[in-house]
Amino acid sequence: MARVTRLGGVEQTRTLTPRTAVIWAVLAAELDRRAGERLTVLDVGGGTGGFAVPLAEAGHQVTVVDASPDALAALTRRAAEAGVADRVRAVQGDGDALGGLVEPAAVDLVLCHSVLEVVDDPAPVVAALAAALRPGGAASVLVAGRAAAVLGRAMNGHLDTAAALAADPAGAAGPRDTLRRRYDADGATALLTAAGLTVQEIHGVRVLADLLPAAVADGQPAALVELERALAARPPYRDLAAQLHLFARRPA
Ligand SMILES: C[S@@+](CC[C@H](N)C(=O)[O-])C[C@H]1O[C@@H](n2cnc3c(N)ncnc32)[C@H](O)[C@@H]1O
Repeated sequence: MARVTRLGGVEQTRTLTPRTAVIWAVLAAELDRRAGERLTVLDVGGGTGGFAVPLAEAGHQVTVVDASPDALAALTRRAAEAGVADRVRAVQGDGDALGGLVEPAAVDLVLCHSVLEVVDDPAPVVAALAAALRPGGAASVLVAGRAAAVLGRAMNGHLDTAAALAADPAGAAGPRDTLRRRYDADGATALLTAAGLTVQEIHGVRVLADLLPAAVADGQPAALVELERALAARPPYRDLAAQLHLFARRPA
């Protein structure tokens, strides 16, 4: 489902999915607000560049910090294929030690998607994200949703795991859980606020996508994306999403 979309005035053809559509809508609004500027972007745990490369294609200068050399190699190949190798810098490093890797107050937009649930300690990572931002700069933070994980385990018949996850203060289901923690909107907001960021928007990502039979999701992709976008900002739907997207700003 490729669509022509605009990022800060630059037209791009991208495939919007339930996983990406809501996030791109939020990012596009920020890029539109700053249309004509070449922004400095930092993507922490940016992986293979699913967001970094389109941002570079829109003309921005993107640094990806990621722990995985394989992911960074794929990012570098992807950036070269897209013709934006000169606008994408790959830095191998640990998000837990971000403070030593990036210059303070030098970034216009920081992304940290699907990382805070796996790092040793999220608070110093968020503090480092905030410190990397220029005053007025924006943060796009995506975290795993806690309620969806409880419901998902229960609906699959794993009631013990659902109960453990619901009872655990961190929202994890024991040592075999692939994630260390999950968030609700209040907990994620508190984490960002403690680092001095002001949360401006919260959206649910994949409110419905993981709950639907594959035949429905695959058979009506455009309708699903539209419905996801319609529900994303509206509690209680938002709070049941597989992921929560927070858009925050460092006060000017
Ligand atoms: C689930 S992927 C998300 C990739 C990308 N942000 C996205 O949303 O498509 C998590 C990424 O975080 C990276 N990562 C995990 N722990 C990290 C850490 N402590 N420091 C830096 N990167 C880390 C992994 O290598 C992986 O590329």
